[in-house]
Amino acid sequence: MAVGLLLAAGISGEDAFADDLERGHDLFALCAQCHGADGAGNELFLAPAIAGLNQWYVQAQLGYFKNGVRGLHPDDVAGMRMAPMSRTLRSEEDIRAVATYVASLAPVSPAPTLEGGNAASGKDSFTLCATCHGVDAAGNEQMFAPRLRNSSDWYLFSQIKKFQAGIRGSNPGNPNGAVMRGMSMTLPDDQAIKDVIAYIGTLPQQ
Ligand code: HEC
Ligand code: HEC
Repeated sequence: MAVGLLLAAGISGEDAFADDLERGHDLFALCAQCHGADGAGNELFLAPAIAGLNQWYVQAQLGYFKNGVRGLHPDDVAGMRMAPMSRTLRSEEDIRAVATYVASLAPVSPAPTLEGGNAASGKDSFTLCATCHGVDAAGNEQMFAPRLRNSSDWYLFSQIKKFQAGIRGSNPGNPNGAVMRGMSMTLPDDQAIKDVIAYIGTLPQQ
């Protein structure tokens, strides 16, 4: 009896996951127009690689975009492109489903676009970053810190600049963004940002 119940619970959990994947796949048709069908991103549209990004992080960010916590700042050109897209997701279920689908996509390794980064110098700054994002930059849900490897380098650069300028990370609706804004201030200039991104690029990709 107990085994039967456990079995039933297990199967219904798998069914829910399969339902989310299917619904997420359908919802992703719109997202693919900018992020690509494989989620590899497109710099022309300022749309980053999102394939295989942590499910909990995607779910949270879509909620922030939808609720105006992210992507409403007047200087946030890229964010203002993404925010209306998030509003096509009508319910929490849609957000969860598309986040599940994004997380299920095979991670990509976007070609580097930034020049002049020194990975050896970046390694030192990354010691701090690793305490939240992980030594392998795979992300850490307990710290709300997303994966940084398998990301578009130009996108990482743009986000650190946005955190430093308070374009991201200054909305009271997301205290985690404020934490990251503080961390971004430890990188004194553009060179230091490029260096740490160059180091992230040397970490084993997924
Ligand atoms: C019109 C183009 C466009 C479409 C369509 C679009 N996005 Fe985006 N998306 C962007 C841009 C541009 C950004 C970068 C925003 C920034 O720089 O803050 C972005 C950022 C994101 C991020 C944040 C990634 C991160 O690492 O924080 C997620 C998650 C995301 N999009 C998911 C989606 C999903 C899911 C859909 C479909 C419902 C979608 N996007 C549709 C352009 C688009
Ligand atoms: C105290 C924990 C912590 C530390 C240390 C930290 N971060 Fe973060 N980081 C976060 C959190 C939390 C977020 C998600 C913020 C949000 O929800 O908007 C984040 C987000 C980011 C993003 C945006 C990623 C995306 O997909 O949009 C980048 C880039 C980033 N961090 C780089 C760094 C770098 C580089 C360092 C080291 C200089 C660093 N972080 C140190 C907690 C941290």
